[in-house]
Amino acid sequence: MKTNIENPKYNSNDFSFIYRYYAGFSTSFVSEILSGYNLDNLALLDPWNGSGTTSRVACQLGVKKVYGFDINPIMSVIASGELAEYDENTKLDLKQRNYLMNRDILQDPLEQWFTKTSVKNIRNTELNIRNAVLLEESAYEVNYLAIFPDFYELLILNHKLAYTYLVLFEVVKKLTEKFKSTNPTWIKIAKSPNEKIKITQNEFQKLFLSELEAKNGILEKKTRNLKKEVQLGVSDSRTLPLEDESIDLTITSPPYCTRIDYAVATRVELAVLGMSSNSDFESLRKQMIGTTKVTNSEYFQREIPSKTAILFLESVYNHSSKASKTYYYKQFIQYFEGITDSILEISRVTKKNGKVIIVVQDSFYKDIYLNISQVFKELFNNNGWKTLEKKDFTKKQTMATLNKNSKVYRDISNPVETVLIFERMN
Ligand SMILES: C[S@@+](CC[C@H](N)C(=O)[O-])C[C@H]1O[C@@H](n2cnc3c(N)ncnc32)[C@H](O)[C@@H]1O
Repeated sequence: MKTNIENPKYNSNDFSFIYRYYAGFSTSFVSEILSGYNLDNLALLDPWNGSGTTSRVACQLGVKKVYGFDINPIMSVIASGELAEYDENTKLDLKQRNYLMNRDILQDPLEQWFTKTSVKNIRNTELNIRNAVLLEESAYEVNYLAIFPDFYELLILNHKLAYTYLVLFEVVKKLTEKFKSTNPTWIKIAKSPNEKIKITQNEFQKLFLSELEAKNGILEKKTRNLKKEVQLGVSDSRTLPLEDESIDLTITSPPYCTRIDYAVATRVELAVLGMSSNSDFESLRKQMIGTTKVTNSEYFQREIPSKTAILFLESVYNHSSKASKTYYYKQFIQYFEGITDSILEISRVTKKNGKVIIVVQDSFYKDIYLNISQVFKELFNNNGWKTLEKKDFTKKQTMATLNKNSKVYRDISNPVETVLIFERMN
């Protein structure tokens, strides 16, 4: 079967989804691929589902079984909210009840940016939202706060409630904008109490309702789901909650090796969900592939079956710059090991002759080029997969990309994305 491959690059003019996420791939990339398959019998997986482009498009097109996992609970909540559908009740009838007093707020993570009274106002609004959504489904009111980590499971199952949380995330993110740093994924916290944001319940509720109206406009135009069976969840790509040989097709993009800290990028959203302790946050960071946290006590815990990866690691080790031998070398080993183990797991859950379509992005460490598509090719090929196709996508060529000798100075903000297609042979 011929697979149609479009440019996977995220399209900033795409308004077919609710919550913007910088590491997503394009909607039409996924729909073009799926147009070549018989969707009635397809079991589709994205083990690094992120904001859920794969699961959203697959549900809209009516893929029989859709599985989307991510280690970061925020990502699964986003993917869940993206499956919400418009109905008359999406315009929430919010009450103004006060469930909580200041003294009820103990060590709320939102206090990193908001005063205690403002946190109480936000949490009271949150409870009013939850009750407005849940009261349609159950007859009792909830008057306690979300306690991480149980609560996100409800959000992952309840797409409409998740959708209202995406609105909540948006409002809190806009309010905390002044704490953003020059690194787009990093957010500072208030250094002193007078730097903290003050907001009344009435003001917060108004902001929420106007954001909800804006998002309802997008939701109303969204293609309806023909979905059959969908399972979203929080799971590590190295231990997927799936049976052996149960998947026909995987469409995915792995965590990149570009020192983006995906957990930090969702710090505000995690705080909204009540991730209260720093140790929970740090333990999430540690589990993320590509994390900037190095936990390897020893080098090489397992074989990395890629010559290109090994040569790259040697170059990093021998690089003259500070910390190359210690920190960076270990960080890259950790990344390749995480990817190697994930590929083994994808192999386990894929049927014979099943396919993987994967988008990878190249990068540099200092002046050393990391040919990541070659690394993935070797890792798959050495695990019993055949390469069916490889296609590179670049934005317009710049002077730096034209001059082969100036690779070092190539615009890193304009990386090459490669789509690779593999078939499982044994
Ligand atoms: C490049 S993004 C995927 C973006 C996705 N295609 C989309 O449309 O939004 C990679 C994702 O891998 C996730 N991730 C990192 N380490 C993981 C792990 N060990 N297991 C599962 N997911 C992980 C990150 O949270 C991130 O959302």
